[in-house]
Amino acid sequence: MHARTLALVVALAVLTAGCGRAGSIVSPKGSEASKIATTWWIIFGLACAVYLVVGSLIIYAALRGRRRGRSSSRLRENTFIWVGGLLIPLVILLVVAGVTVNSTSALRAPAAGALRIDVTGKLWWWDVRYAGTNVVTANVIHIPAGQDIDLRLTSDNVIHSFWVPELAGKEDTIPGQTNHLRFTANEPGTYLGRCAEFCGLQHAHMDIIVVVETPGDFGRWMARRQSTSSAPESEETTRGAVVFQREACAGCHTIRDTAANGKVGPDLTDFGSRPTIGAGVLDNTPENLERWIYDAPDVKPGTVMPQFHSLPAKDIAALAAYLESLK
Ligand code: CUA
Repeated sequence: MHARTLALVVALAVLTAGCGRAGSIVSPKGSEASKIATTWWIIFGLACAVYLVVGSLIIYAALRGRRRGRSSSRLRENTFIWVGGLLIPLVILLVVAGVTVNSTSALRAPAAGALRIDVTGKLWWWDVRYAGTNVVTANVIHIPAGQDIDLRLTSDNVIHSFWVPELAGKEDTIPGQTNHLRFTANEPGTYLGRCAEFCGLQHAHMDIIVVVETPGDFGRWMARRQSTSSAPESEETTRGAVVFQREACAGCHTIRDTAANGKVGPDLTDFGSRPTIGAGVLDNTPENLERWIYDAPDVKPGTVMPQFHSLPAKDIAALAAYLESLK
């Protein structure tokens, strides 16, 4: 392989490396994503056709060369410009507009009996509340397959955009306004989404994970979430619970059925069941959690979560054990 080709391949691999984890819009697993994918394929097909035709004409013109002096051929060339330069592009754009308007108007149709979930974009994480229940979580949304979902999206800071490509289109979260994202997920699975509107320093670390379950599994998850939180069982988790209430933690975070009812940071009632820490910045392991508690701003610069350098290591370990036990 030539050095230049190799450099190009490496550059492409680096540029697209970040695209690997989030799902693709052309492998839809939800009702709205399917409509969007159909539109995408039609536009892609038209673009390919235009590319092939124009490319062929350029090659043909280059091979044929210039011919002069025949007025009848100039007339033909003028007709060619009118048809190829105006009429055909007009038809193509009208088709694209028709397809786009048609699929856009089919999106977000309200459905009776939809499961309502309130999602708020925060700096830089997602607050998730199941309407009519006491279930609050963060950065992970559990939903049942086959049921209509009505996400009500808002923000209490800047504009974010909620986007899980395999399930539905992008929808902005705008302060002072509630936007609806309605869709139905087709099959169980885990779908990764990202914030799709630049929102500041940690825009890149604002992942949302949608866990689609069978209706039975979702019902069991919901029942478990609604039941009373389990009290700490081991000596270390008990110690962790005491540290949590004693230190600043409880002033910013809520853990249901405890004295902690802070509203600044994410609700931690089911923290141990979440796959990541800091909306995707670290995998959720006890070691990473200790690192996060010790110095969150170092891991995620700009986060509101302060550092706890003065906290003894054994207190941090106990805190991590306690939080990981909340499932
Ligand atoms: Cu939130 Cu970008």
